[in-house]
Amino acid sequence: MWTKKQLKQTIESKLSDFLLVVASNRQPYGHMLRDGKIVCQREPGGLVTALDPVMQTSQGLWVAAGGSSYDRMSVDKTGKVQLPPENPSYSLKRIFLSKEERDSYYYGYSNEGLWPLCHIAYTRPTFLAADWESYRKVNQKFAEAILEEVGERKAFVWVQDFHLILLAKYLKEKGPSNVITSLFWHIPWPNSETFSTCPQKREILEALMSFDLLGFQIRYHADNFLAAVDLELESRIDREKTSVSYQNHETLVRAFPISVDFQTISSATESPEGQARGQAIKEELMLEGRKLIIGVDRIDYTKGLPDKFRAIDRLLEKYPEFKEKITYFQLGQISRLHIQRYKDLNEELNTLMEHINWKHSQGSWVPIIFRRTYMSYSDILSLYRTADICIVSSLHDGMNLVAKEFIAARSDLRGILLLSQFTGASRELADSILINPYDTESFAEALAGALSMPEPEIEKRMQKMREVVAQNNIYRWAGKVLSQLLKFEFQEV
Ligand code: G6P
Repeated sequence: MWTKKQLKQTIESKLSDFLLVVASNRQPYGHMLRDGKIVCQREPGGLVTALDPVMQTSQGLWVAAGGSSYDRMSVDKTGKVQLPPENPSYSLKRIFLSKEERDSYYYGYSNEGLWPLCHIAYTRPTFLAADWESYRKVNQKFAEAILEEVGERKAFVWVQDFHLILLAKYLKEKGPSNVITSLFWHIPWPNSETFSTCPQKREILEALMSFDLLGFQIRYHADNFLAAVDLELESRIDREKTSVSYQNHETLVRAFPISVDFQTISSATESPEGQARGQAIKEELMLEGRKLIIGVDRIDYTKGLPDKFRAIDRLLEKYPEFKEKITYFQLGQISRLHIQRYKDLNEELNTLMEHINWKHSQGSWVPIIFRRTYMSYSDILSLYRTADICIVSSLHDGMNLVAKEFIAARSDLRGILLLSQFTGASRELADSILINPYDTESFAEALAGALSMPEPEIEKRMQKMREVVAQNNIYRWAGKVLSQLLKFEFQEV
């Protein structure tokens, strides 16, 4: 089984002659003002959840976009800060973007174009030529910053996600041949018909062909990608090797299901502090013996939040005996709020919650508590440990790491996972209760079933899922990608 120690040893013995660079739009930690003091806080999202523990073993460099003025104030002369704050083990180089760049590269092309293109959630993508232009410029900025740090060294540049598609192309155009590049695509890759609507489809695919290794969450997304290449580019696909050759360059295409740091999460929630926090959370939520159903999501239209609210509503309509017996606590991390669709979703959730809570309330009890305030990572882990049921109801999701974190947190073998069948995680977590978030009736029934599930069955399911996540942990994911990268040969400079 891959462990943190084993990954560290692999990195130390095999990668010590190279610089490991991770590049992503989202930084792992941000600086902000809290109670009059500048604090350094871990950022939300699955990408950070997965890569922060990997980088902690690597002594490498993470290049990402900084945000606040406090981020700017906290870097040294070279734009870097050492992380994580309590035990520095890697550097973060922050790239600062102008407001216009953020508007068009991040909000525009990345999140109004590519994000809805890749998720089947029925939000139309918008592709503006000016946004694409800015996307290109920002990718160039990232490439320049990376080359500045790499210099003459041999480096593995491991790019994350859909914001930085053009990086390998620019690195190879501008720099010498001392970099091996890989991109991990954290979100789904759409089917060819959907992908063909993107006006920049050809440039995107050509740029992806500059990477040496492309990783997807599941085989199905890798196959969708190969189908798009087949349709749009004059290339040669080797099905045996799963690689694509395009203009004298070969790109390997693989599935690497991402995961979480199982062992660390499991131990953190078992610690006396973790247990005490769990107890405090119970008291704060005034559960008084009620069953606790939780959700932890970025507030995004792909996460099926209204669908979750509707399932709670339907459960209480159909089975009023659950009134006052349950509390559904939803933690919502505010995200991409400058985009109208996200504003609308927040409005929709407020209205829906108000309606459902009013409809079913009894005395001081209401079924839904929806909190958008910041919660520390350790508190989130304690929340997982405290819950009876965790619901992940994404309409479409590359993997979904909340599902895996919840399982890692349950060494007590309690806790039931209701998991959307449209997540990458549903492939591995076959002992969860799989739901279709679009089908309110069966979703509510699944909840009712979970609320009355006998303990031995809960334990049996959790035990099996823990074995899966313990085995397929984040160090295995990183180890597999890095082992693959080590097989590439650097061209002599
Ligand atoms: C998803 C994406 C990540 C992204 C995260 C948070 O998990 O795959 O690339 O960082 O959402 O989104 P944000 O736009 O807030 O960085």
